Amino acid sequence: MMQPLVAYVNHAFVPLDEACVHIEDRGFQFADGVYEVIACFGGVYLDLMPHLQRLQRSCAAIAIDLPKPLRVLKSLVQQAYEKNPFEDAMVYIQVTRGVAPRAHVVDNVITPTLVITVRELPKPSEEKVHTGVKAITMRDIRWKHCEIKSIALLASVMGKQEAVKQGVDETFWLDEQGHVLEGCATNVFAIINGVLTTHPLDHQVLGGITRTMVMDVAKLAGIKVEERSWKLDEQGLSECMMSSTTNMVLPVCDVDGKAVGMGKPGRHTLNIRRMMLEKIDALRAHG
Ligand code: PDD
Repeated sequence: MMQPLVAYVNHAFVPLDEACVHIEDRGFQFADGVYEVIACFGGVYLDLMPHLQRLQRSCAAIAIDLPKPLRVLKSLVQQAYEKNPFEDAMVYIQVTRGVAPRAHVVDNVITPTLVITVRELPKPSEEKVHTGVKAITMRDIRWKHCEIKSIALLASVMGKQEAVKQGVDETFWLDEQGHVLEGCATNVFAIINGVLTTHPLDHQVLGGITRTMVMDVAKLAGIKVEERSWKLDEQGLSECMMSSTTNMVLPVCDVDGKAVGMGKPGRHTLNIRRMMLEKIDALRAHG
């Protein structure tokens, strides 16, 4: 039988089955909180500090005190990983403002809720890598602070549900002019006239940690990188890809039922993915 899973909830590690927060937690009642998803490969984290620093920025953006200093959070993540049975793991951290009687404004000082859970790292199937994934587009219906990694994910849940209903993998959000912003849980890129193109960092996209890695790897591969608004019907668009902690980078070969480029994974996408996987193998081998 598998070793029971363990979660960290407000100062203690407890069996996941018994882990709970109060019904008046503001995360439950107002989605008043932020989160992170971090990948761990055989005990070595991919960009742990950038993820924790983003958590710190997200907390600061909504005026929640970071529940622990970064070095303590780092150690708690490590302990959570060690107490759970997965070699390759997905560590989830959630911070909410804390528990208080339900009112929009909190008068007194409350202690933020900190939760850490660990699950097996979900990895995209080989088939998805080889045939590419499919996406649909929807007009962006999210709030105007997408740079904050907020737990208020209703729009993303609706977008993902619509994708699944239509038999595809992801929904890309479009702005009013039809520019591609990002996916429900991914950043999106195109190769346009050989240039890796993605929406610039502003309030309409999350600054993905994997997004940075994709751009760094592309530069190493000699691919020019441009952060600008772009559309799916642009002349010279030959490839599309999406990135996230759990997917790394995946080719997107069909959007709204139309083939992207040649309708199969492009060479730049596959090259970037290969280089990212090599980086992870090196991490696994040398820490
Ligand atoms: N989602 N954009 C959005 C809206 C996201 O929710 C995510 C991640 C990303 C990619 O960020 P990163 O490369 O740092 O994982 C971009 C996580 C994985 C989730 O909600 O499960």
